[in-house]
Amino acid sequence: MTDELKRGLEGVLVAESDLSYVDGEVGKLVYRGYDIEDLARGASYEEVLYLLWHGSLPTAAELDAFAADLAAEREVDDDVIETVRALADAGERPMAALRTATSMLSAYDDEADGADDGEATLRQGRRITAKIPTVLAAFERVRQGEEPVAPDPDLSHAGNFLYMLTGTEPDAVSEETFDMALTLHADHGLNASTFTAMVIGSTMADVYSGVTGGIGALSGPLHGGANQDVMEVLHEVDASSKDPVQWVKDARDEGRRIPGFGHRVYKVKDPRANILEEKLRDLADSSGDTKWLDYTTAIEEYLTDQGLVEKGIAPNVDFYSGSVYDSLGIPVDMYTPIFAMSRAGGWIAHVAEYQEDNRLIRPRARYTGPEEAEFVPIDER
Ligand code: CMC
Repeated sequence: MTDELKRGLEGVLVAESDLSYVDGEVGKLVYRGYDIEDLARGASYEEVLYLLWHGSLPTAAELDAFAADLAAEREVDDDVIETVRALADAGERPMAALRTATSMLSAYDDEADGADDGEATLRQGRRITAKIPTVLAAFERVRQGEEPVAPDPDLSHAGNFLYMLTGTEPDAVSEETFDMALTLHADHGLNASTFTAMVIGSTMADVYSGVTGGIGALSGPLHGGANQDVMEVLHEVDASSKDPVQWVKDARDEGRRIPGFGHRVYKVKDPRANILEEKLRDLADSSGDTKWLDYTTAIEEYLTDQGLVEKGIAPNVDFYSGSVYDSLGIPVDMYTPIFAMSRAGGWIAHVAEYQEDNRLIRPRARYTGPEEAEFVPIDER
């Protein structure tokens, strides 16, 4: 047993996994050996889910059956919708509302009291993955004073979410763009939220607990919350007519971090950021609205000139995702919940994989408290 302390578990190997590999030195991400670039451009989110959960890319027939099974699970109980209404009325934040509603979903799953095999974990996971978009879209609609829209089983996972959010079937470009964003966020090694779900799964608790915990971990600004922070910066720059580069200079002078830059694993630009940047460029070209592209490009160029990117503090996935979501008309505080909607697939895959050869995750802390303290009863203190 080693007593070496690794703060933040940096670089510590805690498990073997076939699911995804992040090469932070060259900026490469693969899911089960497939390059993220190929998957983002060529595979739907449902195909990626199948790959993560079942180990190989599906045939057309397997994909049809899988997508139909997933779509069949989209509806949620009326009581969940009522809770979502209550949360929206109380002004709850979307990630917190999603956390509460996801936890509640287990009440309507007869299998939810702990999975005893991988198949049961994946069946529960399928229900959770299918229902999260329904919950999220309902929350957003209710918040806007609109009625929730029932899911349409004939639409894709991405298309149905946009449909439930707006009440209108999305055009092909919006559906494809959103589907790509879901694929890009589906898995990413043992990031903080995935590790959280795995720790919970390692106690053999049910998958609802793991996904609920994952949502909590993802909500923080150092993890999933950064995409919202980036967009808030861009809006702030826009509203104040400030030069985006000046905003960055001020932030650095005040010792603040630039959201959307830096990563624990990547030492170069995140490959997902490259793909989303290209998508943003396409969207800007077709709409003629280049504002967010201009701002993000100016910030990235400035920080590159300042040597930050060379030092490994390069754009991560969150730097471009917000601008892409904005072009789809998605409200800023829904960005992190959308990350959760996609990453749920990865959390479930990791929990199922880890439980196949489970070992309770239980590290130690180096004790730095007093060695001996004399107890004094309360009335003598
Ligand atoms: N802006 C300015 N400086 C930064 C930034 C940034 N965004 N990120 C890291 N640094 C500096 C940091 O100040 C430190 O400098 P020094 O050594 O002089 O004190 C150095 O880089 C190393 O930072 P660290 O905190 O030790 O690195 P970390 O591995 O713990 O941090 C991170 C990773 C993602 C928490 C951090 O880069 C960060 O806070 N970024 C901004 C938030 C963000 O974009 N998060 C999304 C991450 S990607 C999506 C996801 O996977 O969730």
